[in-house]
Amino acid sequence: MRTPLRSGLAVATTPLLVLAALVGLKQLDPVVAGWAALPVLTVALLLGAAWGRDVARLREAVKQAASGRVVLHGPMLPALGMLHQEIDQLSRLMSERTTLLQRLLKSDEAIVERLPDPLLVLGSDRVIRRANQAARTAFGSELNSVLRHPDLRAALDLALSKGTTQIVELTLRVPLERDVAATVLNLDPPLADGGSILIVLSDRSRERAVERMRTDFIANASHELRTPLASLIGFIGTLQGPAADDPPAQKRFLAIMHDQAERMNRLIDDLLALSRIEVSEHQTPLDAVSLGDLLFSLEEAFAPRVAARHQTLLADIAADLPDVPGDEDQLAQLFQNLLDNAVKYGKEGGTIRLWAGLPPKDATRYPAEPGVVVSVADDGAGIARVHIPRLTERFYRVDKGRSRSVGGTGLGLAIVKHVVARHRGSMWIDSSEGNGACFTVWLPTR
Ligand SMILES: Nc1ncnc2c1ncn2[C@@H]1O[C@H](COP(=O)(O)OP(=O)(O)O)[C@@H](O)[C@H]1O
Ligand SMILES: [Mg+2]
Repeated sequence: MRTPLRSGLAVATTPLLVLAALVGLKQLDPVVAGWAALPVLTVALLLGAAWGRDVARLREAVKQAASGRVVLHGPMLPALGMLHQEIDQLSRLMSERTTLLQRLLKSDEAIVERLPDPLLVLGSDRVIRRANQAARTAFGSELNSVLRHPDLRAALDLALSKGTTQIVELTLRVPLERDVAATVLNLDPPLADGGSILIVLSDRSRERAVERMRTDFIANASHELRTPLASLIGFIGTLQGPAADDPPAQKRFLAIMHDQAERMNRLIDDLLALSRIEVSEHQTPLDAVSLGDLLFSLEEAFAPRVAARHQTLLADIAADLPDVPGDEDQLAQLFQNLLDNAVKYGKEGGTIRLWAGLPPKDATRYPAEPGVVVSVADDGAGIARVHIPRLTERFYRVDKGRSRSVGGTGLGLAIVKHVVARHRGSMWIDSSEGNGACFTVWLPTR
């Protein structure tokens, strides 16, 4: 009640002073002045009360404005009522802007959160302020140990001191070994949450592995070609010098040279075949290939080599084998390489089984889609378990000397793997030492 009283007195002061002045100047009778003062005081007090009440309401309205909801209780003095309306409008505007700001903030957060690359925001104290989902998944609780990597720390120092963006290549050991390209950005001015450094950690492991594979491949291929070439150069020297007048030695050396030249020829053929398949690998071939015809003709073609090793080739090829969408030459090469290995690494005088048909009903390993299965099995020395996963790598051989002595290039199964992949098929190698080997290929028929 003190505010209305004070407001009332403030309103009444001027007319009361005027009345007092008039009495003082003897222009007004003190009794009349007394009577006149009474309504003035009453009206002033009422006005003061209304004023005080409305100012309190306005104060309440300003408080409510922050939350975006202004409630009006009853009528107000006209001028203050208008002010109240203005506050109400202002509060609505503020609330709309706040909603918009929150929405923008949320979409920013969603973008950062869903970025496929791990992203970290650090404060100038290098404490992590934010880590997106990719960062949490990739590094989990190891995030801080990633930040302790000396090269990353050096990049952070530079980014902070020079204010420039730094890019460093790192090999991280925890939680998994991987190659990462780290981009460190100085955020100037800092973000509202105090973030002043942004780090993006992009995984480069795949690219590095591909690069390593390519350089390994070139080194291996050069080495494989150099060996027969060095031997050819050596024999040419011998033929020109010490063996110049020794026809029996010449005959022997020329036979070896012929073998070496053949070996280089096979190697180049296989390298070319591999690169041709690789180039077309993501383009599925669509010619209708009759696998039955193809396998029968391979059986015939292999007969002399099978006989030379006193082996028996038992072919069990289903008569109703459906056609396979494929590349006939590549499919021929696939099964030729498998039969070639069975003859080379199978037992002398042993049995090779070539089987082709629809996937057996009870077999669970094959895909559910319609397809055909071809398997080539021998009863040779087999392959120790440790080697099986690596057999389809280029130039991988269990016994290099043995493979070379039987004319192997180490590329046969790599070609098989790529042809199967190009035909969207699958392959399995079942073997153990001393128990022969069975290579199975499944190819889709649609
Ligand atoms: N049927 C098999 N029995 C035993 N070992 C095999 C058989 N097929 C392949 N291998 C092993 O896999 C290696 C790779 O085969 P491949 O890529 O065809 O190369 P290559 O036959 O030219 O040596 C061979 O060197 C051999 O050690
Ligand atoms: Mg081979």
